[in-house]
Amino acid sequence: MEKTTIESLGQFADKQVTLEGWLYNSRASGKVQFLIIRDGTGLCQCIIEKDKVSDELFEQLGHLGQESSLAVTGLVRADERSVGGYELAVTDAKIIASATDYPITPKSHGIDFLLKQRHLHLRSQGQWCIGKIRHTVIDAIRRFFNDNGFTLVDTPILTAAAGEEEQSLFEVDYFGEPLFLTQTGQLHLESAAMSYGKVYCFGPTFRAERSKTRRHLTEFWMVEPEVAFIELVGLLELAENFVSSIVARVLKDNKSQLESIGADIPALEKITPPFYRLTYTEACEILTSQRAKDFLAGQLEKFKNQKQQIESRIAQLEEEQKGQIKQWKRDKNAAELIELRSELAEVDTKIENNPKHAQLAAEFRWGKDLGGSDETIISQMHDKPIFVTHYPKQAKAFYMKTDRSNENVVLNFDCLAPEGFGEIIGGSIREDDFDRLVTRIKEQNLKQENYEWYLDLRKYGSVPHGGFGLGVERTVAWITGQKHIRQCIPFPRMMDKVYI
Ligand code: 4AD
Ligand code: MG
Repeated sequence: MEKTTIESLGQFADKQVTLEGWLYNSRASGKVQFLIIRDGTGLCQCIIEKDKVSDELFEQLGHLGQESSLAVTGLVRADERSVGGYELAVTDAKIIASATDYPITPKSHGIDFLLKQRHLHLRSQGQWCIGKIRHTVIDAIRRFFNDNGFTLVDTPILTAAAGEEEQSLFEVDYFGEPLFLTQTGQLHLESAAMSYGKVYCFGPTFRAERSKTRRHLTEFWMVEPEVAFIELVGLLELAENFVSSIVARVLKDNKSQLESIGADIPALEKITPPFYRLTYTEACEILTSQRAKDFLAGQLEKFKNQKQQIESRIAQLEEEQKGQIKQWKRDKNAAELIELRSELAEVDTKIENNPKHAQLAAEFRWGKDLGGSDETIISQMHDKPIFVTHYPKQAKAFYMKTDRSNENVVLNFDCLAPEGFGEIIGGSIREDDFDRLVTRIKEQNLKQENYEWYLDLRKYGSVPHGGFGLGVERTVAWITGQKHIRQCIPFPRMMDKVYI
């Protein structure tokens, strides 16, 4: 019997095949059992008719627990209503390992419970879809740079000095000396750019972030390109082409997964160059404008309406639960109620935060870095990514080049994903003048001796250059529409908890 996978069933219509996988879900209706099998490539409905298999097997399959492993053999039939378009009319099956009391049932569970069960939760459809999309995003990242003349340079994970804020360094005991887990490959990458011209690094990045937000992990993946002889305009063009190419690849390769998790496909289809461009000063004006006030007031109305709708649906379901209804309907309602209550809690948080965010925005003053809620507001007001450029020098890292036509600002940019997702890229042109860089290092109270090698790059053939870093998890969260980036890495590490 030919072994195959669920994603390849199309090549075997009307033929006998064997699938190996796990039991995802099952139900029985008299003389027929419907088993949903997953095999890592997809889901397939398998139909077992009582008179087509032995009594013993029919009985065994009827009692098989969720996530038991098995091999099923049968005839492949096209069926439009089936999940993958094909179903299997089973003639034989072999149970490999039966499982009982699998802790994650098809009903809803709280997020804390699921994080503790992450080693198992990875098998669920939602996580599986996100993982598949993450895979495509990473492949698209490599493809883009490899196809555009960039050379991959692996930068070290153990580093001697800060590349970003010193407060977020993780210290390691390196044979009795302190070293740090890398916050960015950028400084080493700048050195490589002077050898190859266009380079990128791609690896895990560590930040001892003390913020427990939905956008922060302590370990995340970042890809960083660095280019010699580039100005800010060129860097923005590179970034918008890059981000657009990632989204296009996901739309091409992962349509069904995007649909399955309810991602906003029409919004993703709009992601093409050019992106919006705002200076920091303009962003500041937007935040304090009447337009932002009206926008936030509109949001508040929208949230309140959502709250009302959720509450009336909850009331309706609770009423139904009190009456005489079938068990399957009772279970279905119970699952929906769990979902609705968590949605209600989210809307309540939004309603509670809205005035605080409105106040923060109204009080925003030139000179501060944009906060999470400020980014959210600006990005909610746009339907495509936004580049915010030219931030105040004092709010940004030492290596950013000051704008020679306005010394108060630096030649940098953040790319904010639209619809409230916030910053996915941070980048800049680098200070290439030796004396100015020394001054910046001193201003930020960094130890010059840690940066001697970095300063050498400004002694020997310094050129205008720049680059950026894109966070993989934030990008995946935006594309898949996840509220929290912890869903976008298989085993998340956060400040308050490392579950498994
Ligand atoms: O803006 P950041 O800090 O920029 C840098 O590290 C530069 N050295 C990059 C460069 O120019 N080569 O970080 C870049 C991106 C952010 O926009 C965000 O997507 C992601 O990295 N990021 C995080 N993602 C998850 N958790 C965190 N704690 C993150 N911190 C940054
Ligand atoms: Mg940043």
